[in-house]
Amino acid sequence: MAEDLFIPESTDRRERYASIVPQIGYLIEDEVDLVANLANTAAVLKEAFGFFWVGFYLVKEDELVLGPFQGPLACTRIAKGKGVCGSAWAENKSFLVPNVDAFPGHIACSSLSKSEVVIPIRGQEGVVGVLDVDSEKLDDFTAEDVKYLEEVVKLLVKKHF
Ligand code: SME
Repeated sequence: MAEDLFIPESTDRRERYASIVPQIGYLIEDEVDLVANLANTAAVLKEAFGFFWVGFYLVKEDELVLGPFQGPLACTRIAKGKGVCGSAWAENKSFLVPNVDAFPGHIACSSLSKSEVVIPIRGQEGVVGVLDVDSEKLDDFTAEDVKYLEEVVKLLVKKHF
């Protein structure tokens, strides 16, 4: 089935999220496969906001392993507690990092990435993965991004975890 994404003309991020988040909900509603839904979620966020890198890491044994993403080549494995992604997993909380170079232990998959948001994906028995959104601009995210990206993750959790 062809899927067309509707992107509002307004470049205001809040307005875009308000339109995009429900569209992600409809998109994943009809599909049972986790990888397919993570892949389309990353594609929609990339297309609607033009983020530098958007993707998922999934917990596999004692590491995060790269999952579906949109953007440049990325690190494939991240240890628990390492970098922003590993910290979001270990501390089970969302991270808003305005300047990645100032984050202790940041993993530089790309030197172009300057700020990021990481949201843990909480399954029944703990964190099962993270959503990572990176920007080439310093200080590109606010608490509003965190709020809406947490909503996106909640839709995925409701469906799959
Ligand atoms: N920035 C992440 C690593 C993953 S990538 O940037 C795609 C981190 O420090 O956790």
